Amino acid sequence: MLRVENIDLFYGASHTLRGVSVSAETGQIACVLGRNGVGKTSLLRAIFGLQAIKGGKIFWQDEDISALKPHERARRGLALVPQGREIFARLTVLENLQTGFAPLARELRHIPDEIFTLFPVLKDMLSRRGGDLSGGQQQQLAIARALVTRPKLLVLDEPTEGIQPSIIKDIGRVIRMLADRGDMAILLVEQYLDFAQSLADHISVMDRGEVVLAGPAKSLTPEQVRKHLMV
Ligand SMILES: Nc1ncnc2c1ncn2[C@@H]1O[C@H](COP(=O)(O)OP(=O)(O)OP(=O)(O)O)[C@@H](O)[C@H]1O
Ligand SMILES: [Mg+2]
Repeated sequence: MLRVENIDLFYGASHTLRGVSVSAETGQIACVLGRNGVGKTSLLRAIFGLQAIKGGKIFWQDEDISALKPHERARRGLALVPQGREIFARLTVLENLQTGFAPLARELRHIPDEIFTLFPVLKDMLSRRGGDLSGGQQQQLAIARALVTRPKLLVLDEPTEGIQPSIIKDIGRVIRMLADRGDMAILLVEQYLDFAQSLADHISVMDRGEVVLAGPAKSLTPEQVRKHLMV
């Protein structure tokens, strides 16, 4: 289980995260919602050790990982599907997937067959360049690349951004299936309320660097959540 406790994050003098707490449990989907610029990606950068925090702590499976380097967190099973996908345009699909091998022991450095069960489209595209894929296919590849690392915590930063509805549905199904398998915690960052509410077990809403509303998804009405997402 992931527990982010009361963290603060600054960019220079600008106080971007203010006492933020969120958590994600194995077998569940925790969702962080918030409009543009409220600090969602900054929160994820803190969780992955890509940006230092000033106060608070981050625990993963009861270990304080707040001071660990990004690669040390990756080795503990944390995987990020970054905003904008960050596919290597000039590498093939297969090579993009192989970049997920980095945190793995040698004997685990192969692509699990399951990846192609989840994303059949990738199987026929292994020798294509990443840059030649559609946005939706790139998003599937970005999720697949994260799954190659056999994550225990899968974090997705706005996976629906700029993706056509049919592929959003496919991605939603995969995320639900991964959670239901029960061996992975999922933290989903979104602005797309319907998608988040259709998937989330737990919702936290952020506004201007703070969590302003949080609770089990069932306990929050869409109106309550929407109120905090409006400018
Ligand atoms: N490297 C940086 N240096 C300085 N300020 C930054 C940096 N990255 C982000 N910010 C600022 O911090 C605030 C939060 O940005 P962040 O990217 O975390 O928001 P977000 O919720 O992910 O937004 P979006 O929905 O657009 O992705 C914004 O005001 C942004 O301009
Ligand atoms: Mg962002």
